[in-house]
Amino acid sequence: MNKKTVLVTFGTRPEVIKLAPVVMELLRRNQVFNTIVCATAQHRQMLDQALHTFEFPVQYDLDLMKDNQSLVDLTTRAMSGLDKVIEKVKPDVLLIQGDTTTAMCGALAGFYRRIMIGHVEAGLRTDNKFSPYPEEINRRIIGQLADFHFAPTERAKKALERENVTGKIFVTGNTVIDALLWVKDRVTKFPPEIPIDLNMGFAGKTIVLVTGHRRESFGEGFENICHAIREVAEHYPEVVFIYPVHMNPNVRKPVTNILGDHPRIVLLEPLGYEQFVWLMNRSDIVLTDSGGIQEEAPSLGKPVLVMRETTERPEGIEQGNAKLVGVKKENIVNNLMMLLDNPELRMKMGKKRNPYGDGKASLRIVDILESEIVTSQTEN
Ligand code: UD1
Ligand code: UDP
Repeated sequence: MNKKTVLVTFGTRPEVIKLAPVVMELLRRNQVFNTIVCATAQHRQMLDQALHTFEFPVQYDLDLMKDNQSLVDLTTRAMSGLDKVIEKVKPDVLLIQGDTTTAMCGALAGFYRRIMIGHVEAGLRTDNKFSPYPEEINRRIIGQLADFHFAPTERAKKALERENVTGKIFVTGNTVIDALLWVKDRVTKFPPEIPIDLNMGFAGKTIVLVTGHRRESFGEGFENICHAIREVAEHYPEVVFIYPVHMNPNVRKPVTNILGDHPRIVLLEPLGYEQFVWLMNRSDIVLTDSGGIQEEAPSLGKPVLVMRETTERPEGIEQGNAKLVGVKKENIVNNLMMLLDNPELRMKMGKKRNPYGDGKASLRIVDILESEIVTSQTEN
């Protein structure tokens, strides 16, 4: 059989986590697929940290990250770097994930070379051009270019149908659940070392796990978030906030300035995926603006407060796993206090079914690729 070449490309931490199960499944089927991996390294340290968990080979590394990079500069360099790799590899299909600059540039560069494009996590929408920024427009552009749309939920599929996208749409579940379940199993058997001793000083405390990085919240939004956390920390001596801080300098500056000196707010460097999953599983409440964490926390039975004005993941909100609390200080404080004061409510939110997948999304995606680009073309 003529093997088909799949070029998988990613640039940031969440893309690695969400594409790793797909890459590992493609590599398992090495009689059928020749799998080539290209990292743009739009993220450097956080990408390497996530890759460390999965340990598959990366054949191309464009090493693009610059400190505080602008969208235009990153886009320009990603386009030309990816184009050269596509020209060299000549893949039968190019796989991208999500809505980052890397994903958008991959889709456009692939289209310019008339390569078939598979989009993992297709069809997420807020219908607000600037929230999340620039991701909502990135994924709309990708939606117009992809040949295979791997939608995580029925709602995502409907959004793509509404836009009359060309290409075929498949509902697969979100691959993040595949990654999460795999890592959860590992950390249950072999708990990772984390850079904080929860048994010393913090024993018996309620843990609020915090992350944040959205561009549309830079400036006032982030300051509000930090002041809200500080205010709640002052009022609740039995609560500890653990916050692995994203490396974007626009995040680091307000976070260290406003939260850096509080005894019950622990600022950490970004954690490895095993460490983060272990800590999320150990926490009581998750306070975040992250896309991936909104999807993961319900699988671990954790209530999530989403510090954003909109979300492209309304399934968790509708089911009651998560609540949208915006980026205004009062709203964050009130919602957090309500959850801290009410353990039954926390339990109720944590008990809802996870709406994002069953851990088999990557199997489905690779099955589909096999039947679409291997079997059907062999038959023709
Ligand atoms: C990017 C994605 C966003 C995704 C997020 C996941 C875009 C435009 N944004 O946002 O969709 O949700 O990643 O975290 O694609 N930095 C480091 N080391 C790292 C990573 C980042 O120092 O390992 C710093 C650098 O100064 C870099 C800056 O963060 O220039 C911004 O990185 P960038 O990838 O442009 O944006 P993010 O905010 O990380
Ligand atoms: N994550 C991690 N270490 C951390 C924080 C998050 O491994 O310190 C993982 C998290 O479990 C999730 C992903 O990174 O799978 C989310 O990444 P991020 O919030 O940066 O991006 P988004 O999902 O919002 O695009």
